[in-house]
Amino acid sequence: MSNEQQSHLSIYDLKTIYAYPQIFDNHKYLTSGGAWHGHIPFAFWCMSALKPGTFVELGTQYGDSFFAFCQASYNVEGDCNTQLYAIDTWQGDGHTGLYGDEVYEKVCEYKEENYPDKVFLIKSTFAEALNLFPDKSIDLLHIDGYHTYDSTKENFEMYLPKLSNRAVVLFHDTVSNNPDFGVERFVSELNYPKIDFPHCSGLSVVCVGDDIPEPLDILLTKGKPIDRARFVNLFAMLGGMITAI
Ligand SMILES: C[S@@+](CC[C@H](N)C(=O)[O-])C[C@H]1O[C@@H](n2cnc3c(N)ncnc32)[C@H](O)[C@@H]1O
Repeated sequence: MSNEQQSHLSIYDLKTIYAYPQIFDNHKYLTSGGAWHGHIPFAFWCMSALKPGTFVELGTQYGDSFFAFCQASYNVEGDCNTQLYAIDTWQGDGHTGLYGDEVYEKVCEYKEENYPDKVFLIKSTFAEALNLFPDKSIDLLHIDGYHTYDSTKENFEMYLPKLSNRAVVLFHDTVSNNPDFGVERFVSELNYPKIDFPHCSGLSVVCVGDDIPEPLDILLTKGKPIDRARFVNLFAMLGGMITAI
């Protein structure tokens, strides 16, 4: 076998597929708000590969992203080692438009029925919720609030002191034709190891902590470009199976 052929048998591919079988799980929660659906398999990967002690989401609305993280944080025995926080005013913003109490009520009801423990819905602004979290305590942060450049920067900088040494930050909506969106520009200015998913409005995965979790470290610092491309393609394909439903 030539070296060229051998390089196609990437150890990382095998680890990705067999070490984290949760990426193939059926999702349990899906609303008509489809902007995040294509990233659900990656949310499953994040929880099983990164095992965050504390996960925080800034911007939850109907909960399509949040409940994917919740689903994956519970193992088959029903145990959960992650505390999950969803923060939202549940009133909407300049991009989602304003919405009524029925959205929060639906999310509360689903949470109570399915995740009564270790999952917290914080109905407040992102700024008001800040003091819930000790410094250096958040291992995984998903930023999906108001998508202007200034708000994205403000939200990131506000939560930066709360991030742990192994923290990873996810930014949704990095790919958009809306001239008002500035997530991509903000993320492009960050000087941390990262990987970008272009599908489903884009998701950037940024390793902010000095201790990059091993599954991402292998990919970002030791892996080859072909490994990263395959990793991105794998999740685009798995996500595409959900968005095609
Ligand atoms: C794009 S939606 C979230 C979508 C969600 N992650 C999903 O999976 O579909 C953005 C949400 O952020 C909330 N939001 C925006 N700015 C906020 C702020 N400063 N404080 C609290 N909530 C905010 C809005 O109410 C809205 O529900």
